[in-house]
Amino acid sequence: AFCCHYCAFAAADLAGSMRLSYPANVLVSEMPCTGRVDILHLLRAFERGVDGVMVAGCLEGSCHFLKGNLQAKRRVQHARRILDDIGVGGDRLEMFNLSSSEGPRFAQIATEMTERVLELGPSPVSKRKAEEAAP
Ligand code: FES
Repeated sequence: AFCCHYCAFAAADLAGSMRLSYPANVLVSEMPCTGRVDILHLLRAFERGVDGVMVAGCLEGSCHFLKGNLQAKRRVQHARRILDDIGVGGDRLEMFNLSSSEGPRFAQIATEMTERVLELGPSPVSKRKAEEAAP
């Protein structure tokens, strides 16, 4: 989960303070703004074998860097098309917008995204990596 420092990361922190649980396999990566998330970050995550990626930024109109979350939205849409084209599946990538006070929503979207990825199963890349690692 690529999380903007000002909203999603704070919401994840709040979820922790509220003792709300979400799947432990969600790794939160703090970014200064989702506008900093490059398409290469997204594709590299899949190349390294993750099965799903979420980008979580401020509500539209509330980005501290004005349009970072709108840039991220376009990059996510582009990356989803690439993932569809290469057979990994664009549904494995999603963008969410939330405010720093939405700890429960962070836990909810992290859970929903995890459930979606579990339903999709391992990505072709992670499947291949697992096969290569098998004795
Ligand atoms: Fe939060 Fe830009 S500062 S998405």
